[in-house]
Amino acid sequence: MKELITILTEQMAAAFEAAGYDGAYGAVRISDRPDLCEYQCNGAMAAAKQYHKAPIVIAGEVAEQCAAKSGGAFTAEAVKPGFLNLTVDPHFLASYIAEMASGKDALIPQASCPKKIIVDYGGPNVAKPLHVGHLRAAVIGESIKRICRAVGHEVLGDIHLGDWGLQIGLVITELRHRRPDLPYFAEGVSEYPDEAPFTVTELEEIYPTASARSKEDEAYREEALAATHDLQEGRPGYRALWKKILEVSVADLKKNYERLDVHFDLWKSESDAQPYIPGVISELERQGLARVDQGALVVDVSEESDKKEMPPCIIRKSDGASLYSTTDIATIVERMKLFSPDEIIYVVDKRQGMHFEQVFRVVRKAGIVKPETELYFAGFGTMNGKDGKPFKTRDGGVMRLESLLNEIEEEMQLKIRDNKNVRAEDAEDTAAKVALAAVKYGDLSNQASKDYVFDTDKFTSFEGNTGPYILYTLVRIKSILEKAEEGDRPYLNGPSILSPSGAEEKNLMLSLTDFAPAVLSAYEELAPHRLCAYIYKVSNDFNRFYHETKILSEADAAKRRSYLALLDLVKTVLERSIDLLGFTAPDHM
Ligand code: ARG
Repeated sequence: MKELITILTEQMAAAFEAAGYDGAYGAVRISDRPDLCEYQCNGAMAAAKQYHKAPIVIAGEVAEQCAAKSGGAFTAEAVKPGFLNLTVDPHFLASYIAEMASGKDALIPQASCPKKIIVDYGGPNVAKPLHVGHLRAAVIGESIKRICRAVGHEVLGDIHLGDWGLQIGLVITELRHRRPDLPYFAEGVSEYPDEAPFTVTELEEIYPTASARSKEDEAYREEALAATHDLQEGRPGYRALWKKILEVSVADLKKNYERLDVHFDLWKSESDAQPYIPGVISELERQGLARVDQGALVVDVSEESDKKEMPPCIIRKSDGASLYSTTDIATIVERMKLFSPDEIIYVVDKRQGMHFEQVFRVVRKAGIVKPETELYFAGFGTMNGKDGKPFKTRDGGVMRLESLLNEIEEEMQLKIRDNKNVRAEDAEDTAAKVALAAVKYGDLSNQASKDYVFDTDKFTSFEGNTGPYILYTLVRIKSILEKAEEGDRPYLNGPSILSPSGAEEKNLMLSLTDFAPAVLSAYEELAPHRLCAYIYKVSNDFNRFYHETKILSEADAAKRRSYLALLDLVKTVLERSIDLLGFTAPDHM
């Protein structure tokens, strides 16, 4: 469907032309003063210079042309010093809403040149428990992926597992100390047991223990580095053990992400990129881009226009080991080869911004991506506790993602059982849905690049700018639609929407027309918070309308059905929006 603002602009341009002025002055925008008008056009102010006339005179002539044309989308009033204040015509608005509700056209306009986009998000590290730091990567990335898809692009979400670093060497070393008898450590063995020598709980204990010890015990650290090296060189026992670590971790990660309603199309990992590294290095050398610096191999990436210092990107350490940057460069090589994406979006902690800038510059310099391939770093801020410091457990430890979700779910169960709107057997499932909305909306309603405070009390409240409030609004609408009489059901197909009868209804209708623009701006800025702000407004507008209006008890059938059709559209818009944010609504709560 054509956006409302486009229709207004076209008609305003025609009015400028009919009055003898350039139509380009007819650009309409949302009002800066919603108390005075719904939309505005400031074109007469600009036209005044070109035509050497007072702006108010031009505005007056244009307003007259608007009035002269019947069946227009708006009426316009010229106000001093030369603004045009627009009021959307109620009949036109009703027909626009009816068209939206008919489902004939896609509510979200589809990209005319669909791109292939890879969204790199999640980024958990195997063998390490998922902690709250990974929450943002998963929640924001999932939403960005869904938004890109909704506007018509072909999108692949890739988890990009961290499965190749020192963390594996540490786990191997610790296991070796604890259970030297395992076949993985023996010489000359080539068959290994099917069953992993640890559970995920043990694994999650092994890693932190090993990591702590390596910080105090130099010999232990050397051992872990050597184990990492041996693994990377292909030592069979270590490879076999690594596969077990991967298996156990991935099974647990899948469970956790499932619970978060986060779904990856690709479960690729850092190790998948390793075979591309020798090629990357020889290519950088062949092109003369790499130079040796104190034994390490580096690529200079600084540019004259840099405001901050941009150190060279290290590709290989002096001991021959490759680094995080090498892996990311190799991953881009792999992605170009397997998927040739037009764009790669990285949803990663913003503290990694410099790393990605270096990587992007290396791949551009080396021609690993085409000049038109877009590489975009969507860095997010830190999730803090109420004390303004990175979120911790009550006793100051690292908060596991699972524990956080459990806490919020328990809180929600109490509230939901208290409300008594939900059958006892549904309470758990409902609580899980509302808790997820609380967590995700709490995160996504903040601009991703900023740090934010995770405030459990605020996020789980049924009032205010929260996920539960949005769900509560949706549930209220669902229950009204459910209670509608059989005879009113035909409103669902071929709805006839009447002109709004009051200010609240008109406001709600105007808000609904903003759905496509809200999704598009969320896409263009990769900003789910735009969508949150939008549904918060729709929910508020709906609730105001609801409090002013008798819906089911409206005696006039045509009116009642029109209300129901409007509600049905609010439901569609809210449901589609929360789906783009990554959560769903229960039927009752
Ligand atoms: N595993 C990394 C970490 O925990 C995040 C990976 C981000 N993606 C990437 N392509 N480097 O910091």
